[in-house]
Amino acid sequence: MDDIESDWTYNFPFDFIHARFLSLGIKDWKRVFAQSFANLHPGGWIEFQEFTFPTTTVENSKPTDAMAQFCEDVITATRRIGVDPQQAEHFGPMLEEVGFESVKCKRLYWPMGDWPGNARDKQIGLWARTNIMSGLDAVCLKLFTKILGKSVEEAQLQAALARRELMDPEVHQRVNL
Ligand SMILES: C[S@@+](CC[C@H](N)C(=O)[O-])C[C@H]1O[C@@H](n2cnc3c(N)ncnc32)[C@H](O)[C@@H]1O
Repeated sequence: MDDIESDWTYNFPFDFIHARFLSLGIKDWKRVFAQSFANLHPGGWIEFQEFTFPTTTVENSKPTDAMAQFCEDVITATRRIGVDPQQAEHFGPMLEEVGFESVKCKRLYWPMGDWPGNARDKQIGLWARTNIMSGLDAVCLKLFTKILGKSVEEAQLQAALARRELMDPEVHQRVNL
């Protein structure tokens, strides 16, 4: 699919529709859900996995500085172009409003880094941190330069500082899904 927000022109219905991590690219989630509903077989299923901004810290963590500023700027910039990166908080009612039944919303927290005590969360944390560190430039470059008016160097520096903070063993951050 080129743009999930454009009109869907499929001439066959789906049994299952899945999407993940589109939060910074969608203006009208309710319309996406309505089009999904219209393109499912009766009894079909939809599964959307999304994150929200900002990242948060757990109790007893050193506070974030660079990542907190990075997230605040992402929220400001995306809202200016009509994207609310906190919409995943409201998916449940939206899904019901367009006709879905048996709606289940599951809240997950991915640690970022190897700070968790147990092996499972430590592994998730390493994967999540690697994923997020590799994506920070892509997230911020256009938003921070074209929308917030920063220079490329300023945007890259912010991303670099956020990456450095993600490697700080005393900062215990997590991303909220
Ligand atoms: C963070 S990546 C996630 C990739 C993959 N879904 C995953 O979970 O690993 C975000 C992806 O969303 C796509 N995207 C953003 N807005 C979109 C839209 N309106 N329609 C379709 N794809 C979109 C981008 O092209 C990019 O590939």
